[in-house]
Amino acid sequence: MELLKKIESVVKEAGEIVLSAENIQDCTNLKTSPADLVTAYDVQVENFLKERLPALVDGALFYGEEETENCDPSRGWVYIVDPIDGTANFVRGFRQSAISVALAKDGKVQYAVVLDPYRKELFSAKLGCGAFMNGKPIHVSELPLSKGIFGMGTAPYNKELHPRTLKLAGQLLARSCDFRRMGAAALDLCAVACGRLDAFFECVLSPWDYAAGSLLITEAGGFVCTLEGDEVPVTEKCSMWASNRVNAEVLKELSC
Ligand code: IPD
Ligand code: CA
Ligand code: CA
Repeated sequence: MELLKKIESVVKEAGEIVLSAENIQDCTNLKTSPADLVTAYDVQVENFLKERLPALVDGALFYGEEETENCDPSRGWVYIVDPIDGTANFVRGFRQSAISVALAKDGKVQYAVVLDPYRKELFSAKLGCGAFMNGKPIHVSELPLSKGIFGMGTAPYNKELHPRTLKLAGQLLARSCDFRRMGAAALDLCAVACGRLDAFFECVLSPWDYAAGSLLITEAGGFVCTLEGDEVPVTEKCSMWASNRVNAEVLKELSC
């Protein structure tokens, strides 16, 4: 079986753990602040993926959000994993959360799989081979922002970034029809990849939030960079601008 299919199959199994979750609030703990949560299910999904994914590629390492000792994701084959993206949604029963898995080689993402277990939507991409949802090709939209909707994240764990976030949101809202704040960055990026959103930004994200989603967008014909216009790294946190091709230049009009 092709490697992408093998990763998809492991991620789908992990999706069953998310769907079976019960009494989530009873197994929820704070991380850095009351906004930043971890549940026993985040850990269970991550442990499951850590047990199953590295075996698919000789020598592959695992870089997960809930890991205490992480490896250097810029060297060799490394899985970059968010076991549950949208944990605050998960705890509150919003049913807008995802499992995000990227496989990078020497700092470049080669494979991406993002699963929305609730909608049963599986997004996947292999570098150079296009992006797919449940096996069907997906593409970014062609709408200019003036006729479009953008998505955003609020960098909830970094309050010092809230003024910048709101300033950018105001500028983009003035140029567009509306915005969405849905609470799971990996799914926001998939929404850009399949044309549901025409752009997306967040003032800080971690590699496990965007590694898979950014490959999905570029393979779907879209564009990603930091808010400074730089390439998005897999090694460290960064800000994020993601859009279709038409809106790639909008970033240059914004005062960040
Ligand atoms: C968070 C979500 C949220 C985004 C945050 C992320 P988590 O991930 O993607 O939408 O605004 O920046 O950290 O903590 O739920 O995995
Ligand atoms: Ca996340
Ligand atoms: Ca997470």
